[in-house]
Amino acid sequence: MIESVPDSTQTPWWRSAVVYQVYPRSFADANGDGIGDLPGIRSRLPYLAELGVDAIWISPWYPSPMKDAGYDVSDFRSIEPTFGTLDDADALIADAHGLGLKVIIDIVPNHLSDQHVWFTEALAAAPGSPQRARFVFRDGGGTDGDLPPNDWHSEFGGPAWARVTEADGRPGQWYLHLFTPEQPDLNWENPEVRREFDEILRFWFDRGVDGFRIDVAHGLVKDPQLPDVGALVFPSTLEHADGSEHPHWDRAGVHEIYRGWRSIANQYPNPERVFVAEAWVGGAERLARYVRPDELHTAFNFEFLSSPWLAEQLRGVIDSTLAAHALVGAPPTWVRANHDVPRDASRLACDQHGLPPRVAVDDLMERELDPALGQRRARAAALLTLALPGGAYIYQGEELGLPEVFDIPAESRQDPTWFNTAGERHGRDGCRVPLPWTSEPNTNYGFSGLPDPAQPWLPQPDEWGHRSVAAEAGQPDSMLELYRTALRLRRELAVLGDGDIAWLDSPADVLCFRRGPRFVCCVNLSADNFVLPDDWKILLASSPVAPELRPDTAVWVEIDAQLSRPQR
Ligand code: NOJ
Ligand code: CA
Repeated sequence: MIESVPDSTQTPWWRSAVVYQVYPRSFADANGDGIGDLPGIRSRLPYLAELGVDAIWISPWYPSPMKDAGYDVSDFRSIEPTFGTLDDADALIADAHGLGLKVIIDIVPNHLSDQHVWFTEALAAAPGSPQRARFVFRDGGGTDGDLPPNDWHSEFGGPAWARVTEADGRPGQWYLHLFTPEQPDLNWENPEVRREFDEILRFWFDRGVDGFRIDVAHGLVKDPQLPDVGALVFPSTLEHADGSEHPHWDRAGVHEIYRGWRSIANQYPNPERVFVAEAWVGGAERLARYVRPDELHTAFNFEFLSSPWLAEQLRGVIDSTLAAHALVGAPPTWVRANHDVPRDASRLACDQHGLPPRVAVDDLMERELDPALGQRRARAAALLTLALPGGAYIYQGEELGLPEVFDIPAESRQDPTWFNTAGERHGRDGCRVPLPWTSEPNTNYGFSGLPDPAQPWLPQPDEWGHRSVAAEAGQPDSMLELYRTALRLRRELAVLGDGDIAWLDSPADVLCFRRGPRFVCCVNLSADNFVLPDDWKILLASSPVAPELRPDTAVWVEIDAQLSRPQR
């Protein structure tokens, strides 16, 4: 047999953790108002423990006007009333810990809600006041100050500046918002801002959370001169010969902030508290800077998420990720999905050539999709992801094979991207549709726990019943059972999780790598069947292997210690 469970005292939990992302609005709704909530999450924790994940990451649960689905936080020390109370949060943390699950929460340090008391104070205060110095306020350009201070753009479309009305009723200064106008950016040059976030980290560490996912971790520090972005395209033009930086993305100054945060986390050693950075940066080497030994523990590997289902690209990302992380001694993470990108089962359902690196739902709408192909590839992608060294992420519903929902009616859409681009970009609602737990439409497919619930906050498609937890549980061929088996094996086999890989000889479009002496993962991305050596013992296959590894299929196998070679 392959080596068994390692001594958990030797490897910190976060180096191998499989983390399940809970998007609270869409996970489970205990009180029947059509919006997910904390009691709903609590009630489903046993499902997550049984699934076999190690931790959950909960997207923002703080009070919020929900202009960006909770990423517009109005109070970092409380819970959004629609979701529950602080007591619910405490109970959730305790229950999760009781089931052996770690709890990671989201922190959003780049911006606040415009309803946060700091911003209402800033609006009431005068230009140049300490209240305004917590944000990025500037006078406008042009003769009347009616032009934005520079050419920066909001991620959701339109300019990144909004003009305020001063106390005398006249148009006044402008403030920076890299996201919606209701998300004013904080000024991280201001020590008061830094102190405040140190305190927020301590507030939640003291309550028992095991870590934080850092929103827009690459965006906090801006060039104080606020120069125009001009023709700079991020991240491809980052590395200028003259060493200059982008005016607001991935600037060297962010790292000092994270060194401070690491020292706070280190004060809570038992169990170790961790960070994961959401940093969209240009390549593995830039990402590795966030996970140097005195900085953050982990960072999302978006290069892997962005890679098309093409062997050469995937292999390139795997190699560059492993090499860059090895240099700083940090474990890589492997992530294929989250609440910001179209569902993997749909992204994989089309010809992968020529897809842009950050595929938007609009790109998929222009292509012909083959849902069965998407499912087949998503299954293989799951086995690839969970076999790679380090940590892995599962976005809620990925384990059910949920596809992107493309046909959300205009009147139901919620994402600011849709509104700010006048419907030109559809945005992210299609991957945020509430989860199906049962096949009963009259309880919102089990999403809502009370009879006669309100409509879910985003409409669920008719096919949701077939893709529910209840429909898939116990079905040997379902995505859910594939995940359950893979996660069980991952726990049983010491060679999975933290560590390294060794590539095996194989045709160019077949990825084959060894973990330890006897475990092999093999993924066929070619158009041809691939003959597996006779003496390979299949532990798990993403689709039937009969008897060859067919295209878009992955297997986990146990090999003889005397390594057999795959045949060409
Ligand atoms: C990244 C989050 O994942 C996304 O949902 C949000 O809109 C932006 N950051 C702004 O907070
Ligand atoms: Ca609810």
